[in-house]
Amino acid sequence: MPDLGAVRELARSITALENNQSEALLALHEAMRDTSAKGRVIGITGPPGAGKSSLVDALARQLRTCEKTVAILAVDPSSRSTGGAILGDRIRMRDHYADPGIFIRSMATRGHSGGLAATTHNVAEWLRIKGFDYVLIETVGVGQDEIAIAGVADIVAVVLVPGMGDDVQAIKAGLMEIADLYVVNKADYEGADRTVNEIEAMLNLGHGPKPPILKTIATAPSGIPELIQQLDSLPRRQHDAPTARFPIDHIGIAVRSLDAAACFYALLGLDTSARETVPPEKVRVAMLAAGESRIELLEALDPDSPIAKFIEKRGEGLHHVALRVPDLNRAIEKLTAAGARVLHEPRRGAGGHLYTFVHPSSAGGVLWELIQA
Ligand code: CO
Repeated sequence: MPDLGAVRELARSITALENNQSEALLALHEAMRDTSAKGRVIGITGPPGAGKSSLVDALARQLRTCEKTVAILAVDPSSRSTGGAILGDRIRMRDHYADPGIFIRSMATRGHSGGLAATTHNVAEWLRIKGFDYVLIETVGVGQDEIAIAGVADIVAVVLVPGMGDDVQAIKAGLMEIADLYVVNKADYEGADRTVNEIEAMLNLGHGPKPPILKTIATAPSGIPELIQQLDSLPRRQHDAPTARFPIDHIGIAVRSLDAAACFYALLGLDTSARETVPPEKVRVAMLAAGESRIELLEALDPDSPIAKFIEKRGEGLHHVALRVPDLNRAIEKLTAAGARVLHEPRRGAGGHLYTFVHPSSAGGVLWELIQA
């Protein structure tokens, strides 16, 4: 749990993630190697007026009484102003601001590169890694962006209110597929049971497991511990790792001799002394630290090596560019399905990472190395 001093730093790192800054993305990428974070990412969605903010409020308060740490992301994909409406809602939460166990952030994603799904996913994952037990994502907008929450959250709660009438039918199209549970909020309003029945009827038309339906009164509050129990016990959704934009890992340069190349790179202030051999590629490699990226000098150990053949044909020079991907097998799957020529199954490199290559004939003339840390 971050202390008060760390909150400012956390806010700064989230801004960097929202702006897709490469250092922040790299930090996220590195942190994701440690899979010990056990927090849950909960998506709270539903039509305007369902009382989602009050529900998130009530959840946060209840979780704090159980000593659980909570991060709240209020996401407004359609925000025309600077998220003012969300911040207004959140004023109620201001008594929590002195509590380091709760972190609140508004995200007006319009204008952010990467869109709602990628940015929110990165930020939510970052908060989870930072040790929050619960990351509550409240979406304010409606439509396609809201559906994207299903690709981000471990559990999606769809919040409805009594007296929606035909609206339950309208919701069926989009939200039904993403609901892991339904919450009928404002359950003290007339027609709450009818709304529950309507949801049940709708679910009975479908196949497969039926999501639970819970009744809450967020403002009372009532039904909140039961809701938390469900959020804890439902199985997590499976989805892709965050689609961070990973930076270039390194640039591979074919040289006849590492020792001969060392002089030139020394003039640039780059140290070529750390070397290793990569037996499957029949090469000796010097990795040069170059900012956040690296330069990989490749010397052939055998006339049969791809580097020897490359130099024979083209001479010394730029050989390949290596890109980090979050999931190499999945990248290969997608590329192969699209007809691209992937050179081999993932191999394990000297640094323990996995790698493969995409042939230049299916990559615009560039030999791309794909790397999974
Ligand atoms: Co390489």
